[in-house]
Amino acid sequence: MARDKGVLRLTNPWPRFAWLAGAAIVGISLALGFLVLDRYQQNDPPLGLWGAICWGLGITADLGPAREAAPTLRTPSRIAWTSSTLGQIRAGDAQHGSFIALNCTACHGEGGMSQSTFIPTLTGMDPAVIFKQLDDYRSGKRPWGVMGAIAKALSIRDSADVAAYYAARPNGLAAIAHEGSLRGESRSKESDSARHLAFMGDEQRGIPPCTACHGPHGYKIGAPPLAGQHAAYIERQLAAFAQRLRQNDINEQMRTIAMQLTPSEMHALAAFYGAPESSRVANK
Ligand code: HEC
Ligand code: HEC
Repeated sequence: MARDKGVLRLTNPWPRFAWLAGAAIVGISLALGFLVLDRYQQNDPPLGLWGAICWGLGITADLGPAREAAPTLRTPSRIAWTSSTLGQIRAGDAQHGSFIALNCTACHGEGGMSQSTFIPTLTGMDPAVIFKQLDDYRSGKRPWGVMGAIAKALSIRDSADVAAYYAARPNGLAAIAHEGSLRGESRSKESDSARHLAFMGDEQRGIPPCTACHGPHGYKIGAPPLAGQHAAYIERQLAAFAQRLRQNDINEQMRTIAMQLTPSEMHALAAFYGAPESSRVANK
């Protein structure tokens, strides 16, 4: 027995070998995990050494001060409504889209019915709108950090699939728009002026009626449904168009219109179109 222990302690090389091998594995993993692998980003240029270490630790490199207002875009979107784009959208597979949508539920809600006033409801939205907005986030034409990263992780095919899925969900924006249940029954001066802008526009300021493009009277391809969308979201988008923070509208139609609206008109229009909270609960 005593002799065995001596052998173990003095001449058996394995424990030392095991320690060295363990240390080497930890060292290689640290180098791979913090220095090598996370340098290479899927759609962005490789990070520097320090950026890679921060990224590996879960601290994003994007902690700098807010950027200045973006300069005017020369082309507002990569999407044009060509027959090949429309074909891509039509080919969307809602079944596969339902799996992709699992990544969206945390923010956009179950089936796309968003519970947060600043996150748009996607349920029943036209697939062309979803497809275009995803591509605009992907290309940075519509800047919004989180959605940009999410859209970059989706292929064109995935975008068409998830668009088909949300468009086919029942009881969403499309249903609300067709019920014609626009608010504004509570007749106040503001809601009257919003109703007038929505249905008649304002000729003097060159504002066409919203309904000509957003329904129910007419639909322009790519114009999202407004009836049933969250009021706070609508108001913020109008302000973003007016301040040119959002520039992804082809032909500048929304920027031109929003710049003509006063803040109180934006507020009244958002309240007019925005979903009444009661219908939101009923639709859950
Ligand atoms: C971390 C929260 C979050 C997640 C996850 C998320 N979104 Fe979004 N999404 C937002 C926010 C916030 C906006 C509004 C941003 C803005 O104002 O531009 C938005 C906007 C959108 C829009 C624009 C809608 C419109 O009316 O113009 C689409 C389309 C969209 N998201 C699709 C998706 C899809 C598809 C997924 C899943 C693959 C997803 N989002 C996952 C937060 C999220
Ligand atoms: C000439 C057609 C046209 C008219 C008129 C029009 N819009 Fe739009 N609107 C669009 C299009 C197209 C888009 C989508 C822009 C894009 O591609 O991002 C849009 C986008 C919007 C959005 C963003 C919605 C979202 O889900 O992100 C809001 C809000 C909006 N319009 C409100 C209005 C209001 C309110 C009026 C009336 C005062 C109006 N629009 C009149 C065509 C129009």
